[in-house]
Amino acid sequence: MNVFDAIRKRVAVRHYEDKPVERDKLLQLAWAAHKAPTGGNTPYRRVMVIDDPDTIDMIRKIAPGFLSNAPAALLIYTDLEVAEHGLGRLGRDVCSLIDSGAAAENAAIAAVAMGLGTCFTKSYSEVGIRKVLDIPDTFRTDVLLQVGYPAKDRPKPLKRREGGSITYLNRHGVEL
Ligand SMILES: Cc1cc2nc3c(=O)[nH]c(=O)nc-3n(C[C@H](O)[C@H](O)[C@H](O)COP(=O)(O)O)c2cc1C
Repeated sequence: MNVFDAIRKRVAVRHYEDKPVERDKLLQLAWAAHKAPTGGNTPYRRVMVIDDPDTIDMIRKIAPGFLSNAPAALLIYTDLEVAEHGLGRLGRDVCSLIDSGAAAENAAIAAVAMGLGTCFTKSYSEVGIRKVLDIPDTFRTDVLLQVGYPAKDRPKPLKRREGGSITYLNRHGVEL
């Protein structure tokens, strides 16, 4: 699939087919996520593939933003010690977060090309997700990406709010 078609087709999917996602496809999404850049080439990014149904159910319980029946998820998270050691506070508080967004979007676009759907999820309990997934305090979870096969008869995606696609030319405020 052409990359622009994949970008155009990506939407937050909140209704999925009732079937699991193959492990090798989830690993391909993890690969796509890891292809995103990292600030200063610092190896702070971690990706967790989550496809165990009981674990997904536990996550759903501590994640008000996990609104779907997605059978799988990818967690993009950061080793804060590696980020701080490599790039100081800029790495820990800024670059790694930017990178996690890039990693999640890479996976989301790749998912479209593979016939999968995703939904970024940030509305969850940080304490809860650490507990469920055995993540130590020296890591920060950044984005959870719900993954599954989009239901064919799902509701239409929400319309984008006005004002979210403003592009200026050369100077702030100069509209195209
Ligand atoms: C950082 C971030 C956090 C988000 N958290 C959630 C969430 O917790 N639950 C959810 O259903 N959608 C979540 N979304 C999805 C947005 O609601 C969605 O992307 C937005 O409404 C635009 O719709 P679209 O993705 O279909 O274009 C999140 C998106 C981003 C970028």
